[in-house]
Amino acid sequence: MKYTWKVAMETLRTVPPIFGSFRTTIKDIEYQGYHIPKGWQVFTAQIVTHLDAKFFDDPRKFDPARFHNQSSIPPYCFVPFGGGPRMCPGNEFARTEKLVAMHYLVRQFMWKLCSKEEIYRKDPTPMPVLGLPIELEAKCPSEYARTKRNKVRSSIGSMAATVAVALLVAILTPLIVYLVRTRTRPPRRNLPPGSLGLPLIGQSLGLLRAMRRNDAERWVQERIERYGPVSKLSLFGAPTVLLAGAAANKLLFLHDALAPKQPRSLAAILGRRNILELTGDDHRRVRGALMQFLKPDMLRRYVGKIDGEVRRHFAGRWAGGGGGVVTVLPLMKTLTFDIIATLLFGLDRGEIREQLAAAFAGMLEGMWSVPVDLPFTPFRNGLRASERARRILEATVREKKANLEQGKSSPSDDLISCLVSLRDGDDDGRQLLTEEEIVDNAMLALVAGHDTSAILLTFIIRHLATDPTTLAAMAQGKFITTD
Ligand code: HEM
Repeated sequence: MKYTWKVAMETLRTVPPIFGSFRTTIKDIEYQGYHIPKGWQVFTAQIVTHLDAKFFDDPRKFDPARFHNQSSIPPYCFVPFGGGPRMCPGNEFARTEKLVAMHYLVRQFMWKLCSKEEIYRKDPTPMPVLGLPIELEAKCPSEYARTKRNKVRSSIGSMAATVAVALLVAILTPLIVYLVRTRTRPPRRNLPPGSLGLPLIGQSLGLLRAMRRNDAERWVQERIERYGPVSKLSLFGAPTVLLAGAAANKLLFLHDALAPKQPRSLAAILGRRNILELTGDDHRRVRGALMQFLKPDMLRRYVGKIDGEVRRHFAGRWAGGGGGVVTVLPLMKTLTFDIIATLLFGLDRGEIREQLAAAFAGMLEGMWSVPVDLPFTPFRNGLRASERARRILEATVREKKANLEQGKSSPSDDLISCLVSLRDGDDDGRQLLTEEEIVDNAMLALVAGHDTSAILLTFIIRHLATDPTTLAAMAQGKFITTD
């Protein structure tokens, strides 16, 4: 089990699902002698420290053993889950999910890549363009042959086609604000080196092109070589400072003058009370509530449910046909959706879950689209899909509440039951989170935990297809159990 997680961490180091983090300065800040004005973006890319030879020997080599002694890795160098007060609260959940899924994969299947030449890109998360088709062979075909083939939903659609448009919108909207500001602001000194580039475009197209070529790491590295670890540029319509290094990661994660920044379309679809929109006491309150369910010692309660979903999936699409070609990424997306629906929303398989899956696919499309609310646009469709998802989740909240009141369920059954049961200590039993907050954050958890987890599993499988030594070591390891 420990070794499997090291393999996952090494995959997260070399192919982090989240390329980097953006923040916005809410007041002027000084960093390494440079001035970063209020309203500018700050950006760090995880891969910069993940592939830095100062922190990781032979950084391009895939070597899970480097995590044997984690304390030897300096702080803020390995940051796939972010850091500080906004560090991913789902990391323990993600860990459990990977361990259970890899347990069954490694024990039950052998596989090889259908195409060694498959192209990868960032869209904006890393992904194989063909979805990673593999040739699969069940090690114990009889066990699966007996299992009736499950009807697995078609995968949730990729958002690739809409990302470029979304980024262009992201350029246009803040750019107007930026142009107005830059014209009215007094001259500044000690700005970081670099150029803000052409109006409107800045360096966004260069970065987008590099992401599509799966070459964004080099793009960032070349800027660092040219200008140093602090440089200015313009990304997605806003003046931005690119920071590199462990100290930069720490600054981004911890500085209280840096606020989170999300595209407008995301807030519109997820709701204005989702945790990414909240700051200060509101952020702490909602995060504390989520952690009640996502904290490590809740693990024992939900590992069995994850196990059930994983078994059902692998017995279905993966092994139902006794092997053959399967495409990993869409199957992993379906798996991670189902795990979240079961565990976080307490939604059993059936019509309602299918409806939520369909609404979620529409939401994803709209989330990365031009935030213009006109008929037939992806954004309008996304808003409609979000309303449908919201209605399902609102009904789920009402049902969980009634079940708790009648003693038919327990707060630890699922995330929604947990959130509904939490009370504000200072008040007369008032619910800690409003219903709007519960629904918005349930939707956010689905979005935050779905693609990231599916991508990590996909890249672990891709790596293992070409690394029999690591695969053999994993197969011998002790895995998590449902006891
Ligand atoms: C491999 C899987 C995952 C990765 C790599 C990942 C990565 C991240 C990162 C890097 C951040 C911080 C972003 C920033 O500060 O800019 C984050 C935040 C977050 N993640 Fe995850 N995540 C994963 C899985 C999950 C899961 C399964 C859930 C939910 C069950 C989840 C829920 C969240 C939430 C709610 C936040 C926002 C936290 C806040 O603002 O306080 N994540 N994640």
